[in-house]
Amino acid sequence: MTPRFGIMSTAKKNSPKRITTHVLQEMKQKGEKISMLTSYDFSMAGIVDAAGIDVILVGDSASNVMAGHETTLPITLDQMIYHASSVVRAINRSLIVVDLPFGSYQGNSKEALTSSIKIMKESGAHAVKLEGGQEVVESIERILSAGIPVMGHLGLTPQSIYKFGTYVVRAKEDEEAKKLLEDAKALEEAGCFALVLEKIPAKLAKMVAESISIPVIGIGAGKDVDGQVLVIHDMLGITQEFSPRFLRRYNDLYTSIKSSVEDYIKDVKSGDFPNEKEQY
Ligand code: KIV
Repeated sequence: MTPRFGIMSTAKKNSPKRITTHVLQEMKQKGEKISMLTSYDFSMAGIVDAAGIDVILVGDSASNVMAGHETTLPITLDQMIYHASSVVRAINRSLIVVDLPFGSYQGNSKEALTSSIKIMKESGAHAVKLEGGQEVVESIERILSAGIPVMGHLGLTPQSIYKFGTYVVRAKEDEEAKKLLEDAKALEEAGCFALVLEKIPAKLAKMVAESISIPVIGIGAGKDVDGQVLVIHDMLGITQEFSPRFLRRYNDLYTSIKSSVEDYIKDVKSGDFPNEKEQY
């Protein structure tokens, strides 16, 4: 295959101001919204970074959109590191956060630290994210003690899908809402630099964002939080079957890619491609 050296040199050419966890904190203080999207590979991450996204999440949603699994549970630590290191090679501005996959941190805080160190060392990412509230505080403190920034994740936590049984909106009842607020405060106190809130009532998300000093990034959590995150395959319309109310599609790439592939097939079959200018 022809080497593609040009890609790398373009991505690294200019060095704009890097987004750090401190920059995100300042953005919250100034009321400036934080933009976050997932990416899992070099080419997509390069585009997302060049567009000016603040945070790239190498989410364990890679298990769904990249590997085709029904849940996020099967993806492994080594697979997350593969995705993360591909993303790291593409970016020159965004903060890169990597999900600790299911089974890589729930055992105990030592395991959580070992997994986080492996991600940081082998991928070059800037922070890790994990799901859960007070039950993961000890792990968060241990990871932080090694100097690794941690993002929390509450509300709908897909790694616990078999405990909850469905992907419906979380914390609609008072008791669960109260627990979520307490968990958010516990994560802030433990030292998380930011928190993702997934699929909870907008009113509750607003209350959380106003109650804690760290940035709150929502997905299906309304507008009154400090930033928004979406899975890139969903917002670009590559995935078709996933259509929750919170999803805004900015493109219909499924249709566009499919029709380009159909055109290519037609050109190959008819002998129209390659033409005389497209040969040596
Ligand atoms: O894995 C992921 O993509 C996520 C986002 C949905 C927040 O955790």
